[in-house]
Formats: sequence, C-alpha cells, structure tokens
Amino acid sequence: MNIAVFVSGNGTNLEAIIDAVSSGKIKAKIRLVVSDNKNAYALTKAKNAGIETFVLSPKGFSSREDYDKEIMKELEKKDIGLIVLAGFMRLVSTPFIKKYKNKILNVHPALLPSFKGTHSIKDAFLYGVKKTGVTVHFVDAKLDHGPIILQESVKVEERDTLETLEAKIHKIEHRLYPEAIRLFTEGKLKVENRKVKIES
Ligand code: GAR
Repeated sequence: MNIAVFVSGNGTNLEAIIDAVSSGKIKAKIRLVVSDNKNAYALTKAKNAGIETFVLSPKGFSSREDYDKEIMKELEKKDIGLIVLAGFMRLVSTPFIKKYKNKILNVHPALLPSFKGTHSIKDAFLYGVKKTGVTVHFVDAKLDHGPIILQESVKVEERDTLETLEAKIHKIEHRLYPEAIRLFTEGKLKVENRKVKIES
C-alpha cells in the first residue's frame, strides 16, 4: 500500500512513521509527503529519507476545493491508498473526504472530543485537567470528529509544566500513530458508524 503523509511543521510524527516503515513494523511505502508550507522542517526529514515531496501553497487558490483538487491529482498519480495527516494544519474539503472515505487518519494531541483545535495541549493544561492524552481517528467532514481508532491517556502531574506535558504527549503520539497505521495497512480496522473495531 502506498501512503501519503501530510505535514505543516516539525515532522516528528513523520519521523516516527518513517522509522516504523524502515524497521518493517509498517509494511507499506511512504510514496509522498505533502505540505502546505514550504518551510516545514518535516520536508527536510522527508528528503533525508529519500521520500518525494509535493509542496502547494494555499495562496492563489480561491477555495479549499480547488486547492485539494490539485493535491488529489498528485495522490492519484502515486496510487495512494492511505492518507496520514501528521500535524497538517489545514482542514480538508468535503470532496476530498468523500473520495478517501475512511482512508484518512489524523493524530490529535488530546482525548477527543475534549480540546479540539490547534492548541490542544496548552488548552488542556490551562484548563487544569488531571488527565489528557492522544487520539488517532479517521477524518470526517467535521473538525477533530471522525471515528476513533486508538486513544491513550496520560496523567498531568502537579510538577508538570506545559513543556513537560508536551514532551509526554509527543512520546505517546510517536508510538500510537505508527501502531494505528500498521493496523490500517494490515486491514484490521472495521468502521461501523462511529465505532472502529480492531481485529486481532
Ligand atoms: C502533533 O502534536 C499533532 O498531534 C498536532 O500537531 C503536532 C505536529 O507535530 N496536530 C494537531 O494539533 C491537529 N489538530 P509534528 O509536526 O512534530 O509531527
């Protein structure tokens, strides 16, 4: 199976996925890394790993649909069977989601449905929660909403700072996301309405 990973930033999740492919944990190929941000450090990581990149700035596109259409052309050329959003800070359009229904994954640094959005670790920390965590889910038309594949919680200790909490969450992401991708590529995820069943 060919995978496309979508990134906007540092690419630490991309790196974890690259490692899981190299070690044979994930038996699939990362065929393309897509970014909306030409300065994303993730692109350097992709290039260092010898993975083709496709950068498309949203500037100059009048709609989300038109932007996504260009990306979809690239995905078709590469026969992509799974799209992995790894810190991709854009919403994807409805036609894109329909075309790749239950084939788009996202990692979110909180226990959904709590703390949706782009500053979830900080939002949870400032809210004073005693537990937060990581969610990997399928992407649907609503923000941070699709069927949940895996979740793992982490305690927020009194001695935690935002930085230590971020570090704990990222560590979980780097383990949980490759695991969800492995399950998908091995055909072990069955979606029934909002419920994801994991076959052993
Ligand atoms: C990750 O923590 C991911 O969960 C988060 O962006 C970070 C990207 O880091 N995504 C979201 O907040 C999406 N709502 P990375 O570029 O180092 O993988």
